[in-house]
Amino acid sequence: MNRQTDPHKLTQASTPVGTHAGYMPGFGNDFETEALPGALPQGMNSPQRCNYGLYGEQLSGTAFTANPPERTWCYRIRPSVKHSHRYEKIDLPYWKSAPCVDPDVISLGQYRWDAVPHSDEGLTWLTGMHTMTTAGDVNTQVGMASHIYLVTESMVDDYFFSADSEMLVVPQEGRLRFATELGIIDLEPKEIAIIPRGLVYRVEVLEGPARGFVCENYGQKFELPGRGPIGANCMANPRDFKAPVAAFEDREVPSNVTVKWCGQFHTTKIDQSPLDVVAWHGNYAPYKYDLRTYCPVGAILFDHPDPSIFTVLTAPSGQPGTANIDFVLFRERWMVAEDTFRPPWYHKNIMSELMGNIYGQYDAKPQGFVPGGMSLHNMMLPHGPDREAFDKASNANLGPDKLDNTMSFMFETRFPQHLTAFAANEAPLQDDYIDCWTSLEKKFDGTPGKK
Ligand SMILES: [Fe+2]
Repeated sequence: MNRQTDPHKLTQASTPVGTHAGYMPGFGNDFETEALPGALPQGMNSPQRCNYGLYGEQLSGTAFTANPPERTWCYRIRPSVKHSHRYEKIDLPYWKSAPCVDPDVISLGQYRWDAVPHSDEGLTWLTGMHTMTTAGDVNTQVGMASHIYLVTESMVDDYFFSADSEMLVVPQEGRLRFATELGIIDLEPKEIAIIPRGLVYRVEVLEGPARGFVCENYGQKFELPGRGPIGANCMANPRDFKAPVAAFEDREVPSNVTVKWCGQFHTTKIDQSPLDVVAWHGNYAPYKYDLRTYCPVGAILFDHPDPSIFTVLTAPSGQPGTANIDFVLFRERWMVAEDTFRPPWYHKNIMSELMGNIYGQYDAKPQGFVPGGMSLHNMMLPHGPDREAFDKASNANLGPDKLDNTMSFMFETRFPQHLTAFAANEAPLQDDYIDCWTSLEKKFDGTPGKK
């Protein structure tokens, strides 16, 4: 090449660097992807005839007039009306929706559970979903539910969508595959996935048994939190969110589609797989995120920020600054603050806090909050470090200290959370949790300078 006579010749990359095979990077991007060449119309959404004889169809995740609208155009073998027939109600007795206030259950209290054990029963994503708490009202699209899933069997010719909710999935054990209309997400512990409202999928077990947590968000979609003075970097970076590339199957077998709609479950029989979207473009899609890419920001001289500093995703409510749900991550990090009580302080909160442990040990509770376990500190109920954590943090020599081998999270909602009968009576509730603060003694005797 003669550089002098061809000064504008550019060298073009052939492969995107660092992207994961099968996924497209970015949060809320307007993606486009096709599983067959030429399946995606260019320059328009609704041509008179789509390539390959596909049907064009829009999936709207927001009102048409929302700003910005979230929608995806799908080009599929059959339109969705062919994947929906007459419905009959079915019962999934362990999957509850708000409002679900059991008169025989006391939700007022501080609660903690060990990991819910697996049983010999074969359970799918649907039958293995066990609701722990509900908050708000699914019919008015506010609030949430928290669930534990115990999954040992793949869904076969069985599909599901929730019209009620966006599902935030937090695996703790095992590996799952979410085969969705818009592509495949493989998920393992230390990752999370978001499955949007209305998206059809089946869940397969890649490595079982699988256990994890789900936050079912009845309200506005999760988004990245405002960063304020933190600026453009750290916390969850948009490039680390991954949406799947298009994937489809052309399989004509009797199949069931189960639909969660206004807290009730219905099933419909169809003659083929509904996972038949050959190409799509838009900004309403499932995605996953690796929690190990979360860059925590914290105190670097003294004191302790609010836990909101660790927000990964937030689902807004109608009230600015007050989330329907915050998803907050407590992961490995350095503690360096001087002359500071470093664990989370004692407090009461108008928001209600449901925590889960993915692995390791949580700094405010060295004992008892185990991987797979959960805790609930409900609206305006006091909580904080147990006696051991208090003593240790009050007397530690404060050098730089790495909190290692720890990953817990919180589903924090503005609404009080109500325990299900399963959470109160069947799940392994720790009856003595409230006693973890009993041995905190009065130290005050009026002597100045005493610590
Ligand atoms: Fe708290």
